[in-house]
Amino acid sequence: MTSVSLGIPAVNSATEPDPARPDHPGLLDRYGRVATDLRVSLTDRCNLRCTYCMPPEGLDWMPADQALTDDEVVRLVRIAVEQLGVRQVRFTGGEPLLRRGLERIVRDITSLQPRPKVSLTSNGIGLSRRAEALADAGLDRVNISLDTLDPERFKRISLRNRLSDVLEGLSAAATTDLHPVKVNSVLLRDVNDDEAIPLLRYCLERGYELRFIEQMPLDAQHGWDRSNMITAAEIMHRLSGEYRLETDTEERGSAPAERFLVDGGPAAVGIIGSVTRPFCGDCDRTRLTADGQLRSCLFSQGETDVRGPMRAGAPDDEIADLWRNAMWRKAAGHGIDDPGFIQPSRPMSAIGG
Ligand code: 5AD
Ligand code: SF4
Repeated sequence: MTSVSLGIPAVNSATEPDPARPDHPGLLDRYGRVATDLRVSLTDRCNLRCTYCMPPEGLDWMPADQALTDDEVVRLVRIAVEQLGVRQVRFTGGEPLLRRGLERIVRDITSLQPRPKVSLTSNGIGLSRRAEALADAGLDRVNISLDTLDPERFKRISLRNRLSDVLEGLSAAATTDLHPVKVNSVLLRDVNDDEAIPLLRYCLERGYELRFIEQMPLDAQHGWDRSNMITAAEIMHRLSGEYRLETDTEERGSAPAERFLVDGGPAAVGIIGSVTRPFCGDCDRTRLTADGQLRSCLFSQGETDVRGPMRAGAPDDEIADLWRNAMWRKAAGHGIDDPGFIQPSRPMSAIGG
């Protein structure tokens, strides 16, 4: 099928400086939010084909010459940390473990001053072989996606027979001190929505922190359907049948997950109501795609190219200003509920989760 492609957004208005932007060193936007959490997508490729993310045949992958090199990634992250106040860096994909230079990138980023916290969002495949090297390189934490504990269902959801690799990756993360190990689950109606309790039990028994994420309209196939979405309220209701959940009184801050203590704690479960309980007002994120485009939001319609200026010789200061201008125009929210909502032309796998 050729109708699904990456589709680079045509709008690039965010690069224009706005005279109204105050002289602030950080990544400030018009609503007073300051981004300090950078998500870097290291590749748009993946070794799974989760149905809520990609079509079975995959996508038209980004051409190699458009992808940032390891040095280019490190340089851009360094500018974000040294000049723009970024304090947390999360590597995503596609699947970031497909990036061979990952350990080196992590080492370089964790050598920056001030040292940012560095984490990884991964499907866990291959992590059992690399967890130790990644921890040695300075990686602080991982978030692993796990939607089911049943091998047949895993294959139905991701079109690959890799559940055991994921579970091995998870346990390697736990033994390698990449703590707290967080697990992300997306529940799909009539596919795995009866697994909320088994998934939570599995994670509680092993000391992983489980977070359920509402399915968002970010699949390349544009097949998202609100009526099919398992909502945060529904997940709460299901879990409450088995466990006593109490709102964790610890400050939520900009964290997207509402945390609930399970049976009095200290174990907790998170529910990320991206669609029904949006947290855009507290968002502190900025994003860099694997081909060097800045995005202020998962749902942005526009992007700011930094690969071009960087390859044309732009100095750090100029790139930092491009970044500030891009973030200044960040929208107030994702607008999924607006009548005119348009799904971004890049799918999740090419933006980074
Ligand atoms: N909605 C919600 N979560 C998604 N993920 C991927 N696509 C979607 C979507 N459409 C999740 C993955 C992974 C993280 C990066 O985001 O399962 O845990
Ligand atoms: Fe790969 Fe993650 Fe998309 Fe699944 S959701 S296909 S693991 S990028």
